[in-house]
Amino acid sequence: MRTLDTLRVQGLTVFLRVDYNVPLSADGKVADDIRITATLPTIRRLQSERAARIVIASALGRPKTYDPAFSLQPVASTLSSILGKEVGLLPLEMDAARSQIAGSPEGSVLLLENMRFYAGETANDAGFARELAGLADVYVSDAFGASHRAHASIATLPALLPSAAGLLLEREVRELRRLTEQPPQPFLALLGGAKVSDKLGLIQNLLPKVDHLLIGGAMANTFLMARGCEVGKSLVERDKVSLAAELLEGPLGERIELPVDVVAADSVEGTPEEMPASAVRPDLAVYDIGSRTVEQFSVDIARAKTIFWNGPMGMFEREKFARGTFGVARAVADCSGHTVVGGGDSAAAVRKAGLQDAVGHLSTGGGASLELLEGRTLPGVAALEGADA
Ligand code: 3PG
Repeated sequence: MRTLDTLRVQGLTVFLRVDYNVPLSADGKVADDIRITATLPTIRRLQSERAARIVIASALGRPKTYDPAFSLQPVASTLSSILGKEVGLLPLEMDAARSQIAGSPEGSVLLLENMRFYAGETANDAGFARELAGLADVYVSDAFGASHRAHASIATLPALLPSAAGLLLEREVRELRRLTEQPPQPFLALLGGAKVSDKLGLIQNLLPKVDHLLIGGAMANTFLMARGCEVGKSLVERDKVSLAAELLEGPLGERIELPVDVVAADSVEGTPEEMPASAVRPDLAVYDIGSRTVEQFSVDIARAKTIFWNGPMGMFEREKFARGTFGVARAVADCSGHTVVGGGDSAAAVRKAGLQDAVGHLSTGGGASLELLEGRTLPGVAALEGADA
Protein backbone atom coordinates (compact mmCIF):
# COMPACT_ATOMS: atom_id res chain seq x y z
CA MET A 1 0.00 0.00 0.00
CA ARG A 2 1.30 3.45 -0.86
CA THR A 3 2.03 5.35 2.34
CA LEU A 4 2.59 9.00 3.21
CA ASP A 5 6.36 8.49 2.94
CA THR A 6 5.92 8.14 -0.82
CA LEU A 7 3.88 11.30 -1.32
CA ARG A 8 5.19 14.85 -1.66
CA VAL A 9 2.71 17.32 -0.18
CA GLN A 10 4.76 20.47 0.43
CA GLY A 11 3.04 23.48 -1.11
CA LEU A 12 0.19 21.30 -2.44
CA THR A 13 -3.52 21.08 -1.74
CA VAL A 14 -4.34 17.70 -0.19
CA PHE A 15 -7.74 16.02 -0.51
CA LEU A 16 -8.02 14.07 2.76
CA ARG A 17 -10.84 11.50 2.77
CA VAL A 18 -11.80 10.48 6.31
CA ASP A 19 -14.63 8.60 7.99
CA TYR A 20 -16.20 11.20 10.29
CA ASN A 21 -19.46 9.26 10.37
CA VAL A 22 -19.90 10.15 14.04
CA PRO A 23 -22.94 9.96 16.32
CA LEU A 24 -24.71 13.29 16.92
CA SER A 25 -26.50 14.17 20.17
CA ALA A 26 -30.12 15.35 20.26
CA ASP A 27 -28.91 18.97 20.19
CA GLY A 28 -26.90 18.29 17.02
CA LYS A 29 -23.40 18.15 18.54
CA VAL A 30 -20.75 15.49 17.94
CA ALA A 31 -21.45 12.91 20.67
CA ASP A 32 -18.26 10.86 20.20
CA ASP A 33 -15.17 12.34 18.53
CA ILE A 34 -12.96 9.22 18.42
CA ARG A 35 -13.13 8.99 14.62
CA ILE A 36 -12.04 12.63 14.43
CA THR A 37 -9.15 12.42 16.91
CA ALA A 38 -7.97 9.19 15.25
CA THR A 39 -7.11 11.18 12.10
CA LEU A 40 -5.09 13.85 13.96
CA PRO A 41 -1.69 12.19 13.40
CA THR A 42 -2.27 12.39 9.64
CA ILE A 43 -3.48 16.01 9.76
CA ARG A 44 -0.47 16.96 11.93
CA ARG A 45 1.89 15.15 9.58
CA LEU A 46 0.47 16.97 6.52
CA GLN A 47 0.79 20.26 8.40
CA SER A 48 4.38 19.53 9.42
CA GLU A 49 5.25 18.71 5.81
CA ARG A 50 3.79 22.10 4.92
CA ALA A 51 0.85 21.07 2.75
CA ALA A 52 -0.61 24.32 1.42
CA ARG A 53 -4.21 23.37 2.19
CA ILE A 54 -5.99 20.34 3.58
CA VAL A 55 -9.45 19.75 2.15
CA ILE A 56 -11.21 17.13 4.27
CA ALA A 57 -14.14 15.07 2.98
CA SER A 58 -16.42 12.60 4.76
CA ALA A 59 -19.89 11.09 4.68
CA LEU A 60 -22.24 11.34 7.66
CA GLY A 61 -25.30 9.12 7.99
CA ARG A 62 -27.14 7.93 4.92
CA PRO A 63 -28.93 10.94 3.40
CA LYS A 64 -29.98 10.39 -0.20
CA THR A 65 -29.75 14.09 -1.05
CA TYR A 66 -29.11 17.43 0.70
CA ASP A 67 -30.57 17.33 4.22
CA PRO A 68 -29.47 19.94 6.79
CA ALA A 69 -29.83 17.37 9.58
CA PHE A 70 -26.76 15.63 8.09
CA SER A 71 -24.62 18.73 7.51
CA LEU A 72 -21.00 18.43 8.59
CA GLN A 73 -21.22 21.79 10.43
CA PRO A 74 -21.07 20.10 13.89
CA VAL A 75 -17.98 18.19 12.71
CA ALA A 76 -16.38 21.45 11.50
CA SER A 77 -16.97 22.96 14.97
CA THR A 78 -15.50 19.95 16.79
CA LEU A 79 -12.50 19.77 14.46
CA SER A 80 -11.92 23.52 14.89
CA SER A 81 -11.75 23.17 18.65
CA ILE A 82 -9.55 20.05 18.51
CA LEU A 83 -7.09 21.71 16.08
CA GLY A 84 -7.33 25.08 17.82
CA LYS A 85 -7.88 26.69 14.44
CA GLU A 86 -10.93 27.60 12.41
CA VAL A 87 -12.00 24.82 10.01
CA GLY A 88 -14.29 26.38 7.40
CA LEU A 89 -17.21 24.36 6.02
CA LEU A 90 -17.17 24.72 2.24
CA PRO A 91 -20.29 25.54 0.23
CA LEU A 92 -22.23 22.65 -1.30
CA GLU A 93 -21.93 23.98 -4.83
CA MET A 94 -18.71 22.58 -6.30
CA ASP A 95 -17.60 25.67 -8.27
CA ALA A 96 -18.06 27.84 -5.18
CA ALA A 97 -16.16 25.29 -3.09
CA ARG A 98 -13.32 25.24 -5.64
CA SER A 99 -12.90 29.02 -5.65
CA GLN A 100 -13.06 29.18 -1.86
CA ILE A 101 -10.30 26.56 -1.63
CA ALA A 102 -8.16 28.42 -4.18
CA GLY A 103 -8.64 31.71 -2.33
CA SER A 104 -7.91 30.37 1.14
CA PRO A 105 -4.58 31.19 2.77
CA GLU A 106 -1.72 28.67 3.02
CA GLY A 107 -2.14 26.39 6.03
CA SER A 108 -5.96 26.37 5.79
CA VAL A 109 -7.92 23.30 6.84
CA LEU A 110 -11.29 23.14 5.09
CA LEU A 111 -14.18 20.69 5.22
CA LEU A 112 -16.36 19.74 2.27
CA GLU A 113 -20.05 19.12 2.92
CA ASN A 114 -21.32 15.59 3.45
CA MET A 115 -20.20 13.49 0.47
CA ARG A 116 -23.63 11.80 0.46
CA PHE A 117 -25.32 15.09 -0.45
CA TYR A 118 -23.86 14.41 -3.93
CA ALA A 119 -25.61 11.67 -5.93
CA GLY A 120 -22.33 10.86 -7.70
CA GLU A 121 -20.68 9.68 -4.47
CA THR A 122 -22.60 6.47 -3.76
CA ALA A 123 -23.12 5.92 -7.53
CA ASN A 124 -19.31 5.90 -7.81
CA ASP A 125 -19.71 8.28 -10.72
CA ALA A 126 -16.50 8.93 -12.65
CA GLY A 127 -17.56 12.50 -13.52
CA PHE A 128 -18.09 13.32 -9.84
CA ALA A 129 -14.70 11.79 -8.98
CA ARG A 130 -13.13 14.06 -11.63
CA GLU A 131 -14.87 17.10 -10.10
CA LEU A 132 -13.38 16.16 -6.72
CA ALA A 133 -9.96 15.64 -8.32
CA GLY A 134 -10.19 19.22 -9.58
CA LEU A 135 -10.23 20.48 -5.97
CA ALA A 136 -6.74 19.27 -4.98
CA ASP A 137 -3.29 18.18 -6.14
CA VAL A 138 -2.88 14.96 -4.15
CA TYR A 139 -5.12 12.47 -2.35
CA VAL A 140 -4.73 10.90 1.10
CA SER A 141 -7.19 8.47 2.68
CA ASP A 142 -7.66 7.88 6.37
CA ALA A 143 -11.22 6.65 5.74
CA PHE A 144 -10.64 3.09 6.92
CA GLY A 145 -14.16 2.86 8.41
CA ALA A 146 -15.67 3.57 4.98
CA SER A 147 -13.11 1.71 2.86
CA HIS A 148 -15.56 -1.16 2.21
CA ARG A 149 -17.73 1.24 0.20
CA ALA A 150 -17.11 1.47 -3.57
CA HIS A 151 -17.94 5.18 -3.59
CA ALA A 152 -16.43 7.89 -5.79
CA SER A 153 -14.25 9.63 -3.20
CA ILE A 154 -13.02 6.29 -1.82
CA ALA A 155 -12.64 3.92 -4.76
CA THR A 156 -12.25 6.06 -7.89
CA LEU A 157 -10.69 9.37 -6.86
CA PRO A 158 -7.38 7.81 -5.67
CA ALA A 159 -6.59 6.76 -9.27
CA LEU A 160 -7.00 10.35 -10.50
CA LEU A 161 -4.37 11.99 -8.26
CA PRO A 162 -1.05 10.96 -6.73
CA SER A 163 -2.41 9.15 -3.68
CA ALA A 164 -1.43 7.46 -0.43
CA ALA A 165 -2.86 5.97 2.74
CA GLY A 166 -2.86 8.18 5.81
CA LEU A 167 -1.37 6.99 9.10
CA LEU A 168 -4.70 5.76 10.50
CA LEU A 169 -5.64 3.72 7.44
CA GLU A 170 -2.15 2.27 7.25
CA ARG A 171 -2.26 1.21 10.91
CA GLU A 172 -5.78 -0.23 10.69
CA VAL A 173 -4.90 -2.42 7.71
CA ARG A 174 -1.61 -3.57 9.27
CA GLU A 175 -3.22 -4.46 12.62
CA LEU A 176 -6.16 -6.32 11.10
CA ARG A 177 -4.02 -8.19 8.57
CA ARG A 178 -1.80 -9.34 11.44
CA LEU A 179 -4.81 -11.34 12.61
CA THR A 180 -5.13 -13.28 9.40
CA GLU A 181 -1.47 -13.74 8.52
CA GLN A 182 -0.02 -16.30 10.94
CA PRO A 183 -1.37 -14.88 14.20
CA PRO A 184 0.40 -16.21 17.32
CA GLN A 185 -1.64 -19.14 18.76
CA PRO A 186 -3.89 -19.63 20.61
CA PHE A 187 -6.00 -17.29 18.49
CA LEU A 188 -9.36 -16.46 20.03
CA ALA A 189 -12.27 -14.60 18.46
CA LEU A 190 -14.99 -13.17 20.65
CA LEU A 191 -18.14 -12.25 18.78
CA GLY A 192 -21.30 -10.63 20.04
CA GLY A 193 -23.96 -8.21 18.90
CA ALA A 194 -27.45 -8.77 17.71
CA LYS A 195 -27.29 -10.67 14.47
CA VAL A 196 -25.67 -13.91 13.32
CA SER A 197 -26.46 -12.86 9.74
CA ASP A 198 -24.11 -9.83 9.99
CA LYS A 199 -21.24 -12.06 11.09
CA LEU A 200 -21.82 -15.24 9.13
CA GLY A 201 -19.08 -14.54 6.57
CA LEU A 202 -16.72 -13.67 9.40
CA ILE A 203 -17.53 -16.83 11.38
CA GLN A 204 -17.01 -19.01 8.31
CA ASN A 205 -13.69 -17.34 7.51
CA LEU A 206 -12.39 -17.23 11.09
CA LEU A 207 -13.44 -20.66 12.35
CA PRO A 208 -10.69 -22.57 10.49
CA LYS A 209 -8.09 -20.06 11.79
CA VAL A 210 -9.03 -19.72 15.46
CA ASP A 211 -8.57 -22.06 18.40
CA HIS A 212 -11.65 -20.71 20.18
CA LEU A 213 -14.68 -18.81 18.94
CA LEU A 214 -16.61 -17.42 21.90
CA ILE A 215 -20.12 -16.24 21.13
CA GLY A 216 -22.18 -13.89 23.31
CA GLY A 217 -24.76 -11.15 22.76
CA ALA A 218 -28.13 -11.76 21.15
CA MET A 219 -26.49 -13.77 18.38
CA ALA A 220 -25.72 -16.46 20.98
CA ASN A 221 -29.50 -17.03 21.32
CA THR A 222 -29.66 -18.37 17.78
CA PHE A 223 -26.85 -20.82 18.59
CA LEU A 224 -28.44 -21.78 21.94
CA MET A 225 -31.71 -22.48 20.14
CA ALA A 226 -29.79 -24.64 17.65
CA ARG A 227 -28.55 -26.61 20.67
CA GLY A 228 -32.13 -27.17 21.74
CA CYS A 229 -32.27 -24.56 24.53
CA GLU A 230 -35.44 -22.60 25.27
CA VAL A 231 -34.72 -18.91 24.60
CA GLY A 232 -38.15 -17.50 25.50
CA LYS A 233 -38.84 -14.05 24.08
CA SER A 234 -35.17 -13.38 23.27
CA LEU A 235 -34.04 -11.87 20.01
CA VAL A 236 -33.42 -14.83 17.71
CA GLU A 237 -32.88 -15.27 13.97
CA ARG A 238 -35.05 -18.32 13.35
CA ASP A 239 -33.99 -18.57 9.72
CA LYS A 240 -30.36 -18.97 10.84
CA VAL A 241 -30.93 -21.70 13.44
CA SER A 242 -30.20 -24.56 11.03
CA LEU A 243 -27.02 -22.86 9.85
CA ALA A 244 -25.94 -22.38 13.47
CA ALA A 245 -26.65 -26.10 14.05
CA GLU A 246 -24.49 -27.01 11.03
CA LEU A 247 -21.61 -24.94 12.41
CA LEU A 248 -21.97 -26.47 15.90
CA GLU A 249 -22.15 -30.02 14.58
CA GLY A 250 -19.52 -29.49 11.85
CA PRO A 251 -15.88 -30.62 12.08
CA LEU A 252 -14.83 -27.33 13.73
CA GLY A 253 -17.88 -27.07 15.99
CA GLU A 254 -15.83 -27.91 19.08
CA ARG A 255 -14.08 -24.57 18.75
CA ILE A 256 -17.35 -22.71 19.36
CA GLU A 257 -18.15 -21.82 22.97
CA LEU A 258 -21.58 -20.58 23.96
CA PRO A 259 -22.75 -18.98 27.21
CA VAL A 260 -23.33 -21.48 30.02
CA ASP A 261 -25.45 -18.98 31.93
CA VAL A 262 -27.34 -15.82 31.07
CA VAL A 263 -29.03 -12.76 32.55
CA ALA A 264 -32.69 -12.63 31.54
CA ALA A 265 -35.76 -10.54 32.40
CA ASP A 266 -39.39 -10.35 31.29
CA SER A 267 -38.58 -7.10 29.44
CA VAL A 268 -35.77 -4.54 29.23
CA GLU A 269 -37.50 -2.75 32.11
CA GLY A 270 -37.78 -5.97 34.16
CA THR A 271 -35.69 -7.25 37.05
CA PRO A 272 -32.63 -9.20 35.88
CA GLU A 273 -32.32 -12.84 36.89
CA GLU A 274 -29.23 -14.98 36.36
CA MET A 275 -29.80 -18.61 35.35
CA PRO A 276 -28.20 -21.47 33.43
CA ALA A 277 -28.54 -21.01 29.65
CA SER A 278 -30.64 -24.19 29.62
CA ALA A 279 -33.16 -22.81 32.14
CA VAL A 280 -34.63 -19.77 30.36
CA ARG A 281 -38.43 -19.71 30.77
CA PRO A 282 -40.76 -18.88 27.86
CA ASP A 283 -41.79 -15.56 29.51
CA LEU A 284 -38.19 -14.25 29.65
CA ALA A 285 -35.73 -12.68 27.22
CA VAL A 286 -31.94 -12.94 27.49
CA TYR A 287 -30.12 -9.58 27.76
CA ASP A 288 -26.59 -10.51 28.87
CA ILE A 289 -24.22 -13.40 29.46
CA GLY A 290 -24.02 -14.64 33.06
CA SER A 291 -21.17 -14.43 35.56
CA ARG A 292 -20.03 -18.06 35.11
CA THR A 293 -19.75 -17.43 31.38
CA VAL A 294 -17.67 -14.30 32.01
CA GLU A 295 -15.37 -16.42 34.20
CA GLN A 296 -15.05 -19.20 31.61
CA PHE A 297 -14.55 -16.81 28.71
CA SER A 298 -11.95 -14.93 30.80
CA VAL A 299 -9.90 -18.10 31.33
CA ASP A 300 -9.64 -18.66 27.55
CA ILE A 301 -9.01 -14.96 26.95
CA ALA A 302 -6.14 -14.93 29.47
CA ARG A 303 -4.44 -17.84 27.67
CA ALA A 304 -4.80 -16.41 24.17
CA LYS A 305 -1.86 -14.91 22.29
CA THR A 306 -4.09 -13.22 19.72
CA ILE A 307 -7.62 -11.90 20.27
CA PHE A 308 -10.18 -10.31 18.00
CA TRP A 309 -13.34 -8.98 19.66
CA ASN A 310 -16.35 -7.58 17.88
CA GLY A 311 -19.81 -7.01 19.33
CA PRO A 312 -21.12 -6.53 22.88
CA MET A 313 -22.08 -9.51 25.08
CA GLY A 314 -25.43 -7.99 26.00
CA MET A 315 -27.48 -4.82 26.16
CA PHE A 316 -24.61 -2.93 27.79
CA GLU A 317 -26.27 0.48 27.32
CA ARG A 318 -28.33 -0.52 30.40
CA GLU A 319 -26.19 -0.88 33.51
CA LYS A 320 -28.11 -3.93 34.73
CA PHE A 321 -27.20 -5.80 31.50
CA ALA A 322 -23.64 -4.47 31.14
CA ARG A 323 -21.67 -6.82 33.39
CA GLY A 324 -20.97 -9.37 30.67
CA THR A 325 -19.62 -6.83 28.20
CA PHE A 326 -17.53 -4.96 30.78
CA GLY A 327 -16.36 -8.29 32.25
CA VAL A 328 -14.96 -9.51 28.94
CA ALA A 329 -13.61 -6.02 28.18
CA ARG A 330 -11.58 -6.24 31.40
CA ALA A 331 -10.36 -9.75 30.48
CA VAL A 332 -9.34 -8.61 26.98
CA ALA A 333 -7.55 -5.58 28.47
CA ASP A 334 -5.68 -7.85 30.94
CA CYS A 335 -4.59 -10.31 28.22
CA SER A 336 -0.88 -10.03 27.48
CA GLY A 337 -1.31 -11.18 23.85
CA HIS A 338 -2.07 -9.05 20.81
CA THR A 339 -5.63 -7.73 21.19
CA VAL A 340 -7.76 -6.05 18.55
CA VAL A 341 -11.24 -4.69 19.15
CA GLY A 342 -13.22 -4.08 15.99
CA GLY A 343 -15.29 -0.95 15.83
CA GLY A 344 -18.75 0.15 16.88
CA ASP A 345 -20.28 -0.96 20.17
CA SER A 346 -17.43 -3.11 21.48
CA ALA A 347 -14.93 -0.27 20.96
CA ALA A 348 -17.39 2.09 22.70
CA ALA A 349 -17.64 -0.38 25.61
CA VAL A 350 -13.86 -0.54 25.95
CA ARG A 351 -13.67 3.24 26.05
CA LYS A 352 -16.63 3.52 28.44
CA ALA A 353 -14.75 1.17 30.77
CA GLY A 354 -11.64 3.37 30.42
CA LEU A 355 -9.63 0.42 29.07
CA GLN A 356 -8.68 1.82 25.65
CA ASP A 357 -4.98 2.11 26.50
CA ALA A 358 -4.82 -1.54 27.58
CA VAL A 359 -6.02 -2.84 24.21
CA GLY A 360 -3.52 -3.42 21.40
CA HIS A 361 -5.63 -1.89 18.67
CA LEU A 362 -9.08 -0.29 18.83
CA SER A 363 -10.36 -0.17 15.27
CA THR A 364 -12.41 2.78 14.03
CA GLY A 365 -14.01 0.51 11.44
CA GLY A 366 -17.12 -1.55 12.12
CA GLY A 367 -18.27 -3.04 8.80
CA ALA A 368 -14.87 -2.40 7.21
CA SER A 369 -12.95 -4.40 9.84
CA LEU A 370 -15.41 -7.30 9.52
CA GLU A 371 -15.15 -7.33 5.72
CA LEU A 372 -11.35 -7.26 5.86
CA LEU A 373 -11.35 -10.24 8.24
CA GLU A 374 -13.87 -12.03 6.04
CA GLY A 375 -11.11 -11.97 3.44
CA ARG A 376 -12.92 -9.54 1.18
CA THR A 377 -11.19 -6.86 -0.88
CA LEU A 378 -11.92 -3.36 0.43
CA PRO A 379 -12.27 -0.96 -2.53
CA GLY A 380 -10.75 1.92 -0.54
CA VAL A 381 -7.68 -0.15 0.32
CA ALA A 382 -7.33 -1.77 -3.11
CA ALA A 383 -7.36 1.70 -4.68
CA LEU A 384 -4.21 2.58 -2.70
CA GLU A 385 -2.49 -0.67 -3.58
CA GLY A 386 -2.81 -0.41 -7.37
CA ALA A 387 -0.42 1.43 -9.68
CA ASP A 388 0.16 5.09 -8.78
CA ALA A 389 -1.72 7.84 -10.64
C1 3PG B 1 -19.50 3.17 9.23
O1 3PG B 1 -19.84 3.92 10.15
O2 3PG B 1 -19.46 1.92 9.34
C2 3PG B 1 -19.02 3.78 7.95
O3 3PG B 1 -18.97 5.15 8.02
C3 3PG B 1 -19.86 3.30 6.79
O4 3PG B 1 -21.16 3.81 6.89
P1 3PG B 1 -22.28 3.28 5.87
O5 3PG B 1 -22.64 1.90 6.33
O6 3PG B 1 -23.40 4.26 5.98
O7 3PG B 1 -21.67 3.25 4.50
